[in-house]
Amino acid sequence: MEALIDLVNKLQRACTALGDFGEQTSLPTLWDSLPTIAVVGGQSSGKSSVLENVVGKDFLPRGSGIVTRRPLVLQLHRIDEGAEYAEFAHQPRKRFTDFTAVRKEIANETDREAGRTKQISSVPIYLSIYSPHVVNLTLVDLPGLTKVAVDGQSENTVQEIETIVRSYIEKPNCIILAVSPANQDLATSDAIRISREVDPRGERTFGVLTKLDLMDQGTDAVDVLEGRSHKLKHPWIGVVNRSQADINKSVVMIAARIKEQEYFANSPHYWHLATRMGSQHLGKLLSKHLESAIKSQIPNLQSLISKTIVELETEMSRLGKPIAIDARGKLFMIMELCRAFDQIFKEHLDGIRPGGDRV
Ligand code: GDP
Ligand code: NA
Ligand code: MG
Repeated sequence: MEALIDLVNKLQRACTALGDFGEQTSLPTLWDSLPTIAVVGGQSSGKSSVLENVVGKDFLPRGSGIVTRRPLVLQLHRIDEGAEYAEFAHQPRKRFTDFTAVRKEIANETDREAGRTKQISSVPIYLSIYSPHVVNLTLVDLPGLTKVAVDGQSENTVQEIETIVRSYIEKPNCIILAVSPANQDLATSDAIRISREVDPRGERTFGVLTKLDLMDQGTDAVDVLEGRSHKLKHPWIGVVNRSQADINKSVVMIAARIKEQEYFANSPHYWHLATRMGSQHLGKLLSKHLESAIKSQIPNLQSLISKTIVELETEMSRLGKPIAIDARGKLFMIMELCRAFDQIFKEHLDGIRPGGDRV
């Protein structure tokens, strides 16, 4: 299964590298069929913080106000050994080993496309992280939903953000992390509203409740976390991310995770739920869910891939000299990946197809 998730990741990356090229083929459909996880919610609800905690690395710009202004497609690749590094699709040959520099580059690349003001852009930033400490996942960080445009934004900004967010989460293969802050009324949560629109039965939505530590004295979120007040098909996960004060003091991830675990273990409200709460548990849950999402997609993916291989072969032979070597190279890479996929299906996945029919 690890191998399959890894291949899905590689295929996603290859499709990304190919860009518009291959539009005549089934590649865009194939890309849409690959499961991803997207983080949605209101501005400053803690989306970027949740993502960072799931990844276990500090690399995202966070803070009050509108910080995330372009979609960030984040691919995690597990490597067996060696030092962790990151790579951007817009700087393919540069390896980042300093994750503070990764954060700066995200901010700079946001400014380059969306300007330095508070404008937003639908053009995604693609970032890959290679590490022995991550699970193979593709995650998308999205701009926060708002109800009113702020100074420096155009009138349409509110609607533009909704459109961007919806374009990711309406895909049936998108797993939605719906992030709501516990210190605000859930009835007004943008995360809940928009995820209900695209996934009315809550089959692919995970409710994440942040800022439990900021709730008013005398109130708690037990009714939500135990699934009584806002029922979702999947269990709710409560998390405690780093506060702005923690960020200002540069509290490191490992310390924050320990603090989070202690928070749940020692809380008079939540200690009985402690094993089912927190960022690490969320990460494990997601990777398990992604696995089963991929498994259920296998028959569909397989036929799409066979079709894509044929189309790509036709495309390759149709291409004359004027086509850049680079494009041919990319096409070739995708084809190789598709073949590898096909091989894996044949070798390892007999019997796990729904209905148990042989590949
Ligand atoms: P985003 O706009 O949804 O991506 O939210 P960010 O992750 O950028 O967080 C917004 C602000 O809320 C930052 O100052 C975070 O430190 C703070 N924050 C996020 N989650 C929590 C939490 O669980 N507890 C506390 N105390 N602060 C949080
Ligand atoms: Na923010
Ligand atoms: Mg953010």
